[in-house]
Amino acid sequence: MAQQTLLSLCHVLVLALCVSAAEDFDWTKNEKGSFHYGTFPTVFSWGAGSSAYQTEGAWDKDGKGMSIWDVFSHKRGKIHLNDTGDSSCEGYYKFKDDILLMKDLKLNHYRFSISWPRILPTGIKSDKINEKGIQHYDSLINMLLENQITPIVTLYHWDLPQVLQEKYGGWQNSSMVNFFDDYANLCFERFGNRVKHWITFNNPWSIAVEGYEMGDHAPGLKLKGTGAYKAAHNIIKAHAKAWHTYDIQWRSKQKGMVGISLSTDWGEPVDITNQRDIEAADRYMQFYLGWFAAPLFSGDYPQVMKEYIGKLQY
Ligand SMILES: *[C@@H]1O[C@H](CO)[C@@H](O)[C@H](O)[C@H]1NC(C)=O
Ligand SMILES: *[C@@H]1O[C@H](CO)[C@@H](O)[C@H](O)[C@H]1NC(C)=O
Repeated sequence: MAQQTLLSLCHVLVLALCVSAAEDFDWTKNEKGSFHYGTFPTVFSWGAGSSAYQTEGAWDKDGKGMSIWDVFSHKRGKIHLNDTGDSSCEGYYKFKDDILLMKDLKLNHYRFSISWPRILPTGIKSDKINEKGIQHYDSLINMLLENQITPIVTLYHWDLPQVLQEKYGGWQNSSMVNFFDDYANLCFERFGNRVKHWITFNNPWSIAVEGYEMGDHAPGLKLKGTGAYKAAHNIIKAHAKAWHTYDIQWRSKQKGMVGISLSTDWGEPVDITNQRDIEAADRYMQFYLGWFAAPLFSGDYPQVMKEYIGKLQY
């Protein structure tokens, strides 16, 4: 299912509503009825979002390295109709047209992701920096700003450099924490004078579960029982490390924000009078959203996760 939708999303600009960056924005001051009848509060910001692999194309152009999605989608039988993102929306070439479309839609925010292997072909900063890749994102960011569109930049929307997967086992390996930090730091250094909104990871649940446990997303591994937990653990640490790098090295100069994009399904008790159902619904939420949110907000995994799977060793 997920794969089938993945590659067909390309022409759909996902309409996202982002709260303005103004930190003093207070929802409670808005009129209750202000969302009714096609109106939005004046402080509401309109945006659209995309990801590199799903829109850029140019998968092997201008020095870009391969990502795990390039390799995965080229394996026959993995993607609906054996489709690939090789060309996708040609966003790498058409970003100027895309920005004109954003202007037509009167968007003032655009969320996109940087392809890690486009700027670091092997994923490792000390190996090689691909300046052509950097130039692409420079042009994109500059044109957005010239058009009064605020860039919201995701650092990792699932396209891990293939070399890191092959040599180290990708997110199974804690060495990803430092590789990701070097990559994030490079992005802060090169783009952070203009980008003030950073998202480290998009939907880490999918990366961990669908990539390393179920195997229906890249890298397609079925490491049942432990794969997702190890991947998630390293992703959470990578987020934290990059956040602190920004905080220590860049925040005072660049004055931006670093966050993460978590997604979740929602679990309801079948019978709201049944304690076991209530606990099951809560457990579902903890294993989906709490898994990532609890460490970020309180520094540890949810208690119920520790009780159920705490004996696993990392
Ligand atoms: C996709 O590739 C698989 C494996 O080679 C093949 O069985 C299948 O028919 C292909 N599907 C299409 C739509 O070409
Ligand atoms: C992580 O990568 C290093 C270096 O290649 C390797 O020695 C180690 O076994 C890897 N660890 C795991 C858990 O794959």
